[in-house]
Amino acid sequence: KKGNYDHFMQKEIYEQPESLRTTLRGRLIPGDESKVKGVLLGGLKAHLRTIRRSRRILFIGCGTSFHAALATRPLVEELSEVPVTMEIASDFLDRRAPIYREDTAVFVSQSGETADTLQALEYAKSHGALCVGITNTVGSAISRGTDCGVHINAGCEIGVASTKAYTSQIAVMTMLALAIGEDAISTRARREAIIDGLLDLPGVVKEVLKLDEKMKELAATLMEEQSLLLFGRGYNYATALEGALKVKELALMHSEGILAGEMKHGPLALVDETLPIIVIATRDSTCSKQQSVIQQLQARKGRLIVMCAKGDAAIMCPNGASYVIEVPHIQDCLQPIINIIPLQLLAYHLTVLRGFNVDQPRNLAKSVTTE
Ligand code: UD1
Ligand code: M6R
Repeated sequence: KKGNYDHFMQKEIYEQPESLRTTLRGRLIPGDESKVKGVLLGGLKAHLRTIRRSRRILFIGCGTSFHAALATRPLVEELSEVPVTMEIASDFLDRRAPIYREDTAVFVSQSGETADTLQALEYAKSHGALCVGITNTVGSAISRGTDCGVHINAGCEIGVASTKAYTSQIAVMTMLALAIGEDAISTRARREAIIDGLLDLPGVVKEVLKLDEKMKELAATLMEEQSLLLFGRGYNYATALEGALKVKELALMHSEGILAGEMKHGPLALVDETLPIIVIATRDSTCSKQQSVIQQLQARKGRLIVMCAKGDAAIMCPNGASYVIEVPHIQDCLQPIINIIPLQLLAYHLTVLRGFNVDQPRNLAKSVTTE
């Protein structure tokens, strides 16, 4: 039931403070005199030692689920010190890529039924890798077929475009990183700060949802456009890819997420006064690089829409921008959860304004059970 909402997607966007609360429920140990601050993932406990000792971790998924894994890769690498490689399930299968017993393969899927991901799981299993599932659907093929895993508990998602599952996937994979890294003394303060961030998360998500009206306003200025680029890097390369996927699948507008570090290797040639470009420049270790990307785009008279932390507009784009999206600040690795929400709202409003079907985009199905 849609309740007071016009579409399931809109309802699911607005549910995120609650869906994240459910995802985190019972899994965060706030810490006191008797217990250290930490995470508890019931389904992984028995396998953490094996995961820590693996030679490589592979993240495997499709579409939005692949993006969620990409958003957490930097943190998993930082806290585990195990190399993490990214695999789009179909490409992994096309290559019949090498995979070994010493590998841990993590399969990310909202439905747990995606054909490509499921086949990649069968393939990885037959090569002896430890197979971990991150799924939303209890009893799904991927949930049953993996050696162990974590249910994201985001609740049923009806809109074909994935929204609340994405933010819950990132939350769970953040906890996965914390669990893998839990025995390292050197990262303890970092891990505790992230746990504090997770405890604050539902409140911060509520805060960012207040940008709805502003995103509607922005959508009205973009509705006639042919194309929209999004530049991100670091934790928010995934945000750029995922924002672009939402805009293309829903609003049926060409949109491309670009790794900002690649700008000079081609995309810069596209920049002119007309093409709208969203630059994600929230606070993290890459933000001074994004500042210089903004300067270079401005030097070419780019039509910039800048996403930055509240109060950072003057520093991040001193020469102004055609539009600024100021979002609340949270720990760097959790920022992708906050940053995607205005982009979900933007894609939603663009779709409504352009008169397309929000919950059932043309040619697409919620669960892709054929190759
Ligand atoms: C589990 C219960 C939850 C209960 C909690 C109490 C289930 C589904 N969950 O949650 O209702 O409140 O204990 O402690 O009964 N798994 C996979 N692959 C996946 C996902 C999960 O193999 O893709 C496995 C896990 O390894 C685990 C089981 O499924 O053995 C349940 O996983 P999860 O629901 O995440 O576990 P808990 O959070 O402990
Ligand atoms: O159910 P899954 O997470 O395995 O689905 C993967 C993709 O098909 C899915 O994320 C798709 O990209 C969505 N339509 C994105 O909104």
